Amino acid sequence: MPAFPNPFQGKNEHKLTKEELIQAVRLDIAGELEAIYLYDAHVRATDNEVAKKIIADIRDEEKAHVGELMTLLKLLDPEEAELFASGEAEVHEMLSELGITASAENPSDSASEPATVGSMIDKA
Ligand SMILES: [Fe+2]
Repeated sequence: MPAFPNPFQGKNEHKLTKEELIQAVRLDIAGELEAIYLYDAHVRATDNEVAKKIIADIRDEEKAHVGELMTLLKLLDPEEAELFASGEAEVHEMLSELGITASAENPSDSASEPATVGSMIDKA
């Protein structure tokens, strides 16, 4: 949902401190995630194939923006980047304990091949 509570927000002459910039990037990430959620809801809510294709493409561009902003956040705050990496490592460790490879590519239903995150999620 658009939220423009402060009409002067875009005209602020104040230059952000590093901490304010980090907070702004976090807010920007939240905005991108909200946009993804809304675009996806609109894709699911229509049978118009042209609209579905265009809105889904925009939704996916927002996902790329999340990646860009997350990369910027990690550059601005290396300590937070270490915490993100720690959380990622914990998940990979849990997946390893479950015998699941971390790759979401090439999901397979074959019992002879190792399970992947993609194949496990598809079965859920
Ligand atoms: Fe975006």
